[in-house]
Amino acid sequence: MPYSKQEVIRVRITDAADEDKWMGRLPDGPVVFVLGPAAIGDLVDARIIKIKKAYLEARLTAVIEPGPDRVDAPCPHFGTCGGCKWQHVAYPKQLALKEKAVRDVLERIGGFAAPEVAPAIPADPIYGYRNKVDFTFSDRRFLEPHEMEEETPRDTSFAVGFHAPRQYGKVLDLEVCHLGTPEMTQVLHLVRRFALDRQLKPWSTKTNSGFLRNLVVRQSVATGEVLVNLITTWREEAVMEDLAGTLEAGLGADRLTFVNGISTRLNLVAVNDDSFVHRGTGRITEVLDGLSFGISPNSFFQTNTRQAERLARAAIDAAGLGPGTKVWDLFCGVGTLALFAARTGAEVTGLEVVPEAVEDAKENAMANQVESVRFGAADLMHFARDLPRLRERWGDPEVVILDPPRAGLHPKTVDGLVALAAPRLVYVSCKPASLARDAARLRDEAGYRLGPIQPVDMFPQTAHVEAVAMLER
Ligand SMILES: C[S@@+](CC[C@H](N)C(=O)[O-])C[C@H]1O[C@@H](n2cnc3c(N)ncnc32)[C@H](O)[C@@H]1O
Repeated sequence: MPYSKQEVIRVRITDAADEDKWMGRLPDGPVVFVLGPAAIGDLVDARIIKIKKAYLEARLTAVIEPGPDRVDAPCPHFGTCGGCKWQHVAYPKQLALKEKAVRDVLERIGGFAAPEVAPAIPADPIYGYRNKVDFTFSDRRFLEPHEMEEETPRDTSFAVGFHAPRQYGKVLDLEVCHLGTPEMTQVLHLVRRFALDRQLKPWSTKTNSGFLRNLVVRQSVATGEVLVNLITTWREEAVMEDLAGTLEAGLGADRLTFVNGISTRLNLVAVNDDSFVHRGTGRITEVLDGLSFGISPNSFFQTNTRQAERLARAAIDAAGLGPGTKVWDLFCGVGTLALFAARTGAEVTGLEVVPEAVEDAKENAMANQVESVRFGAADLMHFARDLPRLRERWGDPEVVILDPPRAGLHPKTVDGLVALAAPRLVYVSCKPASLARDAARLRDEAGYRLGPIQPVDMFPQTAHVEAVAMLER
């Protein structure tokens, strides 16, 4: 190719390739993938970083002519933070790209011809929608470009915020996150100030030493309650009591619950191996469509409350339930979909691996006086092996709802579904590529036909998309 590395090329963007990758074609033929916040229709300059036989990879250096779907990104960290990369794309265009992404992977990975993909259900609001934000502490602060140019070098030994993209272990010291609520940003500032004043040290991934690990803040849309979970490597009761006072003074005692989680893991996954409650009950309550859910620090709960209601309705509609329909809700978490399903009169069994989530699910069923639902702990990786026992215990389902993590179904879980051969499956997917792979196996090995697919936008300003797919035999 008549191009060289570091050369700056000018290209018109015609498509989205990935979250942070956009595509165009040079007049003499080669496809270019442009990294950085480009948008469809933009004419951009980009510096070549990779030359392959069939394509070039380049990094955005300047937008020469903005395309029709480009908007101003409101966040001061936009472009450096890994959190959300589509703030500069007009919301209707984000939705169209997500719908297309679902269709594309079903065709390309799943081999489904002309899948029936509906327009994505839009979110409202499109900022401040997260009910949980997970900040990380680090002793390796990532400096933003303008910070690197400052005369007095910054101290890089403390940061609390988000991991910088492609900078393993480095964390951006965040001022604000527009995807969370103002209270989450307030807690971030209160805890940072407290930690710096007390000279509390972040835990280091390199030396496995240091105190502060994660700051997870959850807020209920329905009640306004705030759950602050500060994860540390060991317990300092007096320090945590002082911090509890600071948080209480800032947020108000009536809506705060503060937990000190302890973890000695060798990674920064925000899980409490032990929890000490300093204020409140250690749980908050969220309400979805009239159903209330208790949420404790380790439980999974859909991150976008308003959209979770729409997602659950889409899943229940696809399931076509009525009084007495036998349903299994696999990967049921705290029982969200199970309770929505049981409310139709269906008889529901929810299965889930995290014991606390199963306990929460049982309590949620009781609190909402939903009777036709039962929950059990099960590692669905062993679904095929355990299937005879599960069938005997719970009876064969007519509908199986599946809501696995992003990786999708374990191959052995698919083996179990093939053996079970339930008449209808409703697959709620947070990664369409996993859905496409799993649905293809279910089609090839058990004769399932892929019905309508409803994308739901749970995460505006990012490329992520959730989809509800119906499969029938
Ligand atoms: C995407 S969440 C869905 C939760 C729930 N349906 C909801 O809407 O709140 C996935 C759930 O799968 C659970 N999970 C992950 N791996 C599992 C496994 N091997 N067996 C059973 N559950 C698992 C997680 O703990 C989590 O609760």
